[in-house]
Amino acid sequence: MAIKLMIDQQTIEVPEGTNVLDAAAAAGVKIPTLCHLPGVTSPGSCRVCLVEIEGARTLQPACVTPVTEGMKVHTLTKRVRMGRRMSVELLLANHPWDCNACVRNGTCELQALAKNLGITDVRFPYSRAEVPVDTSTPAVVRDMNKCILCRRCVAVCQNVQGVGSLSPRSRGFDTMIGAGAGENLCDAVCVQCGQCTAVCPVGALYEQDAIEDVWRALEDPKKHVVVQTAPAIRAALGECFGLEPGACVTGKMVSALRRLGFDKVFDTNFTADLTIIEEGHELLGRLKAALVDKTPVTLPMFTSCSPGWINFMEYFYPSLLPHLSSCKSPQQMFGALAKTYYAQKEGIDPASIVVVSVMPCTAKKFEAERGEMNDSGFKDVDYVLTTRELGRMIQEAGVDFLSLPDEEQDSPMGMSSGAADIFANTGGVMEAALRTVYEVVTGRELPTKKLHVQPIQGLEGVKEAALTFENCLPDWAFLNGVTAKVAVAHGLSNARKVCDLIVAGKADYHFIEVMCCPGGCIGGGGQPRMTTDSVRRARIQAVYKEDEGRPMRKSHVNPAITEIYKEFLGSPLGKKSHHLLHTHYQPRGQAPEPAKPAKKKASRKKAQA
Ligand code: FES
Repeated sequence: MAIKLMIDQQTIEVPEGTNVLDAAAAAGVKIPTLCHLPGVTSPGSCRVCLVEIEGARTLQPACVTPVTEGMKVHTLTKRVRMGRRMSVELLLANHPWDCNACVRNGTCELQALAKNLGITDVRFPYSRAEVPVDTSTPAVVRDMNKCILCRRCVAVCQNVQGVGSLSPRSRGFDTMIGAGAGENLCDAVCVQCGQCTAVCPVGALYEQDAIEDVWRALEDPKKHVVVQTAPAIRAALGECFGLEPGACVTGKMVSALRRLGFDKVFDTNFTADLTIIEEGHELLGRLKAALVDKTPVTLPMFTSCSPGWINFMEYFYPSLLPHLSSCKSPQQMFGALAKTYYAQKEGIDPASIVVVSVMPCTAKKFEAERGEMNDSGFKDVDYVLTTRELGRMIQEAGVDFLSLPDEEQDSPMGMSSGAADIFANTGGVMEAALRTVYEVVTGRELPTKKLHVQPIQGLEGVKEAALTFENCLPDWAFLNGVTAKVAVAHGLSNARKVCDLIVAGKADYHFIEVMCCPGGCIGGGGQPRMTTDSVRRARIQAVYKEDEGRPMRKSHVNPAITEIYKEFLGSPLGKKSHHLLHTHYQPRGQAPEPAKPAKKKASRKKAQA
């Protein structure tokens, strides 16, 4: 049923159940918000979205007030302006005034609100007791001195990720957002995904900053510094420089990295292609064991490229760990190969190689620190930057990003296919795997128009598809007539649904892709803020466009992959592959292993991209 109401001077009609905030937006009136996180939470606690409604005694929060027939809403009266100012002043009275030295300077929503509302003075004294900054994990920093108790982090951790490591503690003036039962995040069951850092409106939650470490490596003449960029970076980095979401900036990104001083600009897409070969063979091996050899084998098999997902499994579903592919993530495969294959091929001492990753995800920082990730004989990946950190480095270097020419990645670890591009989004790893598995098994080329697997595209939480094999090559004849069922889940609360089905014995899938973050890596916790569904869709379109523009769109036809097997690895799942590209994971129980405490950074505070 449609509801008719007046917003300022406009009469509009909106569906029943709409709140005043969305009705005003439909009328072109933007009401400021802070605690409201579209599609996730609206606790109505910050009182920044106040409006005057005729007949109501007090000002009302627009985000939680439903429209009613004949309602008359005023969004710009003096009372409204004063009410909003008062709400923000009360927040500022409890917030440190060190904006110039804050990681969110220039991107802080509270700072922007104060500016927009014309606040130049705060009438209330600052009275907050200082608490230590929590730097206990390699991924996420919590500075509760800056928290404004909007609870967006609590909602995203609980409702979207289904993890629930953050929750309010104490009451009234003493209220604080706590991590698990202890003092610090390392005491909590936290998967390090960084979704909390992506939704925090202020400088209370942010990634561990690796920028200074990377500058130091770049300035060291004895070091050979190589960089890899995840597929999702190119679809979002432009947002750090004012471009609209969905602008694909691969060529400019490569140029910018060369200007920062990296010796080689490589691509995680290369090891995304390699992952498809290794993971595809692992899946086919498990299917053969089940269908031909009739030996006990664990199916369905889960993808393993998302480290937040791995952490989730280790904490919450340890009994399902054998379902995980043993493949390392493309980031870690790259690190292991850079210090072995690349070092050997170029005659460089691996001890002098520094591997820097640019990732959309804070969990990648955690993953690089894992004890298992040193199969090259060194720490495989030395430093991990988020997209936001790379944006800040480029700004600091004074590089005019938008006028950079397009350049190409270096060889041999920079060559990749379109299948690797789509790793960046939910359903992409599965689609890339199916492209390769189909052609390897049947020996027939997939026509271009059949490369996309429509049922597993899009932002539906859990998606399914089926593929029936026919006329397979002799080696794969056991698959003739077999229908492989696959599923795709993104966001850990959706992953939980799939895991619960398996535990209950109700899942008949063969292969399942899980990405920790909503939308996949394009929506990672280290991407430019703010990631809404429309931003996710725009970034997804960008990665598919990138794929469609490539002459080479399947991982197994990448000549650099053929070359690495010929020159170095031998065969998929061979001895060397097993040593460098595969790993195993451990149950963690309900209390995490002590994470290696990140060293306290010098007081580096950079303007956030
Ligand atoms: Fe409406 Fe916070 S945005 S109360």
